[in-house]
Amino acid sequence: MIVNSLSLCYHNKLILAPMVRVGTLPMRLLALDYGADIVYCEELIDLKMLQCKRVVNEVLSTVDFVAPDDRVVFRTCEREQSRVIFQMGTSDAERALAVARLVENDVAGIDVNMGCPKEYSTKGGMGAALLSDPDKIEKILSTLVKGTRRPVTCKIRILPSLEDTLSLVKRIERTGIAAIAVHGRKREERPQHPVSCEAIKAIAETLSIPVIANGGSHDHIQEYLDIEDFRQATAASSVMVARAAMWNPSIFLKEGLRPLEEVMKKYIRYAVQYDNHYTNTKYCLCQMLREQLESPQGKLLHAAQSSQEICEAFGLGAFYEETARELDTRRAKLLARTPEAVEEPAEDTSGIIKMAVKFDRAYSPQVTPKMCLLEWCRREKLAQPVYETVQRPLDRLFCSVVTVAEQKYQSTLWDKSKKLAEQAAAIVCLRSQGLPEGRLGEESPSLHKRKREAPDQDPEGPRVQESAVPGELCKKPFVALGSGKDSPLEGW
Ligand SMILES: Cc1cc2nc3c(=O)[nH]c(=O)nc-3n(C[C@H](O)[C@H](O)[C@H](O)COP(=O)(O)O)c2cc1C
Repeated sequence: MIVNSLSLCYHNKLILAPMVRVGTLPMRLLALDYGADIVYCEELIDLKMLQCKRVVNEVLSTVDFVAPDDRVVFRTCEREQSRVIFQMGTSDAERALAVARLVENDVAGIDVNMGCPKEYSTKGGMGAALLSDPDKIEKILSTLVKGTRRPVTCKIRILPSLEDTLSLVKRIERTGIAAIAVHGRKREERPQHPVSCEAIKAIAETLSIPVIANGGSHDHIQEYLDIEDFRQATAASSVMVARAAMWNPSIFLKEGLRPLEEVMKKYIRYAVQYDNHYTNTKYCLCQMLREQLESPQGKLLHAAQSSQEICEAFGLGAFYEETARELDTRRAKLLARTPEAVEEPAEDTSGIIKMAVKFDRAYSPQVTPKMCLLEWCRREKLAQPVYETVQRPLDRLFCSVVTVAEQKYQSTLWDKSKKLAEQAAAIVCLRSQGLPEGRLGEESPSLHKRKREAPDQDPEGPRVQESAVPGELCKKPFVALGSGKDSPLEGW
């Protein structure tokens, strides 16, 4: 997925606040449907994210960040790509940057939680714990601002004194962040304490960057028109709504709140379509039902032990069956697709043989496709493969063309690094010749032998420095990264 605009405007926006367990994909999509301009995901902890693998889910048309235990930690889709903010819990600048880089191609912005007083967030120095460590705040934010292509924001609570709050936010603004969300309560204050519109206002009047006012649910915000009143009372640029949206996401609808029954059904449809875990769906529905949990429907919901039972409780049994069937059919189609059928080599009009292949975990890092190709060229007394790589400015992805015996080969899939792109090009060449390509389980005795004989020698040839040309990235459609005449082949 590629985001076209690298900058997101935080002025005059209605925003769904980050909410643990609540801010998953179905809720975010629903909030967007009802008129939210920007939606935050729930706080996700940096260490957990760093264990995740990015997986394109072709059945659901989503991008999933999947933990080693196969749990989906963060699921997103194209529909929200330009509006979803990834909120992380972190206490370390380098980890924060690594997470930002992991998700930046799939989200519109990166936010750091500095307001959550709950133990799961403050332990390890995250969330509101950061408020007492401005040096660390500065390090995290400036590292993110320098290192990610997405706008960076943070969400804070106010400090015990206004003076300290103002000096903190001025310091935060100097890091270059795009906006700041302010929950107008102190760290130890609970939702029943009044929100300080005056403190948010003082911050908004002090800073030049957009201030996003938060904390108005219940006391100030009960329906759509209240959102603007809260914005005016705080003199903020934008308003972020948490609980009022959790209770009824149609709070963002200009025309006024929709009946809860209708909203819940819409929510359930998204939950089923995006295969949301039923416990999460149930949790969110319980937050909406609130005092109606004792109603017959509430009792059915309480008893539900699967998405199907949730659907049945809301008269959506037929919808569930139809959607499940549709997803099963998609799954079956994908499974039936043999790699050969998908990756059939095809020569296009440019004369380049192209296939949709990637160098992934199916390949051995010891005997790579590039090594196999080089070995084969040597055996066949052909000139060394020549790699030419370009980088696309839009998303900084790479594509490589390899020339062997005057024929060019290229993968149609763009890769995160030059190394991966070259490996993919080598796979296309090898596969179209029917040669071994270094897939795990495939034997290539001569290469193993060569490795053992000359362990210090890079079997793929000399290494050259990878060179991007940052100044030219935005001007040229493609940035050439050098021809590989000297075989710029790195080990993996
Ligand atoms: C269920 C729930 C989960 C929350 N999770 C987060 C979170 O993950 N990150 C965060 O910064 N704040 C979190 N918050 C705080 C809200 O984003 C918001 O700051 C707070 O509820 C005040 O806004 P409101 O008056 O609109 O509810 C959570 C609040 C609730 C009710």
